[in-house]
Amino acid sequence: MCGIFAYAGNRSDASQLILHGLKLLEYRGYDSWGVAVIPRGKGEGKRGKNEIVVKKRIGKIGDANVNELPSSSFGFGHTRWATHGGVTNVNAHPHLDCFNTIAVIHNGIVENYEQLKKNLIKNGHKFQSETDSEIIAHLIEEYSKNIPFPKAVQKTFNSLEGLNAIIAINTKEEQFCAVKNGSPLVIGFGKNENFLASDAAALLPYTKQVYFLEDNQMAIVNKDKADVFDVATNRSVLIKPITLEWDIKQSHKGNYPYFMLKEIHEQPDIILEIANSRLNEAMKMAEVIKKSHGAYLVGCGSAAYVANSGVYLFSKVAKRHVNFAVASEFSYHLDFLNDKSLVIALSQSGETMDTLEAVKRAKVKGAKIGAIVNVLGSTLYRIADYKLLIGAGPEKGVASTKALIGKLSHLILIAYSLAGKGNQGKEVLIKAAASSKKLLQSTNINNIKKLAKLLKTKSHMFVIGRGLSYPTSLETALKIKEISYIHAEGLAAGELKHGPLALIEKGTPCIVFAPQDETHGANLAGAMEMKARGGYIIGISNKSHEVFDYYIQVNDALEGTIIPNIIVGQLLGYYLSVEKDLDPDKPRNLAKSVTVK
Ligand code: AGP
Ligand code: GLU
Repeated sequence: MCGIFAYAGNRSDASQLILHGLKLLEYRGYDSWGVAVIPRGKGEGKRGKNEIVVKKRIGKIGDANVNELPSSSFGFGHTRWATHGGVTNVNAHPHLDCFNTIAVIHNGIVENYEQLKKNLIKNGHKFQSETDSEIIAHLIEEYSKNIPFPKAVQKTFNSLEGLNAIIAINTKEEQFCAVKNGSPLVIGFGKNENFLASDAAALLPYTKQVYFLEDNQMAIVNKDKADVFDVATNRSVLIKPITLEWDIKQSHKGNYPYFMLKEIHEQPDIILEIANSRLNEAMKMAEVIKKSHGAYLVGCGSAAYVANSGVYLFSKVAKRHVNFAVASEFSYHLDFLNDKSLVIALSQSGETMDTLEAVKRAKVKGAKIGAIVNVLGSTLYRIADYKLLIGAGPEKGVASTKALIGKLSHLILIAYSLAGKGNQGKEVLIKAAASSKKLLQSTNINNIKKLAKLLKTKSHMFVIGRGLSYPTSLETALKIKEISYIHAEGLAAGELKHGPLALIEKGTPCIVFAPQDETHGANLAGAMEMKARGGYIIGISNKSHEVFDYYIQVNDALEGTIIPNIIVGQLLGYYLSVEKDLDPDKPRNLAKSVTVK
């Protein structure tokens, strides 16, 4: 889940460049960071020609600098999302060998690190950190006593269990040895300079020509070239760079205080763009679904809620049963899949490990894989037999907003296409974009800000809805939880009386989605039940009702009303977070791309 950025070239400010790259990647992990460079010119290390100079700090990068690092044209950096060992300067990456001549950055978990560490200690290695990652540097040190450095890295990688991406350097040559299994690594090709990163978005300021390493491929990268080979067969791989479609401008915050707010405001245009340009793609995916014997939508977190909404959309609009599963659970109940099955994975990053695991297992069963994914070239994108790019542009806020709405907009188009009514789907999206745009006008934003002020001191909230408003409730509760740290529970409104109602007392905030659809009356009944127990009812609907203590108006957009309704949840989560002086872009304990299981 970490951010990785590496540079080899002719510039002399490698450390600044690396820090800048890490800042662009900080959403991937931000408990601590570190940069290592090999100084320009000759210095005497304990063993090699040059010593590796490292700076590591805990916390977000913020205004930190690397001004004290020496001039250099070769180095790498890492933003950590700790798995093994607390968040300390020492545990931050890069990690060094015993002689400070080998440095390593690592993404993933070395599952057999304890045994490897025991053996290394027996052989006299001294460890500084509590991480699983540090063993990688020492193992390379051990192996490179007898074999060339790249071979030692390869042998080390082959000794690791688990899903890992590593980059190793030594002081003898200015080249990176990068190898991966599971976690992403991408090479960026510049002019007389080359890069490595964990996410292509960080390469945009420098190049759009990239190559995504496949699992078990190792790249030896210096400023002039990148050689790639397969670590199992040693066979060299002919690499064909692809061109990134994103624009660097999309990676900036502009005048917005946070990426999340910028990304929320981009949504009406993204919905319109999908409505106007994606119908053909949607129709192709609809054809694939039509031909399958059993289709399953899978994803994690917000993507799982979008997948869940697909069940309702396909049933209602296309009269077709499409199943849904949380990806991390799907792996445990997919034994019935066969070569006629279709599994469509939804993912912003295309790197979520639980989603990839589910997809890989489904593939083993012979199922075909579809992907609705935002990142071109990501692992999911490459694995899938049928792919749809969401086209939302880079999403930086850890809380997913525009990518989620992009996935949902595609599902709406696909469901209508499956029913042979693609143009009607387009109209629904146009209505949803208009309703969302209205919501983002200042009077409506102020109404939500006022609500956030009222609710910011609360510890618990409930969010209810039926039908399409059920996944909406789950998503709204997740947004509130992850960025405002207020406990929120999303519920199918009908479930209230089966238990949760016991928790409603005087003043408990209860958010009720009551769009103008077949669930309207039943949702209001849920609101009444909570009101009768003292609940403070926040109604989200196209028209007010006496049961509401607070009202947020959302214009009706037929099946597309789920879109502006979800945006209300995003805005409420955002303003609660801001009211509580938190950082909505980087919530505690979380990371943008969840590349561990
Ligand atoms: C939600 O706001 C996110 N924090 C998270 O739940 C996310 O949706 C999930 O991790 C899936 O990510 P993906 O779309 O990149 O696969
Ligand atoms: N497991 C390693 C650690 O805890 C790597 C974590 C990461 O991917 O950021 O340091």
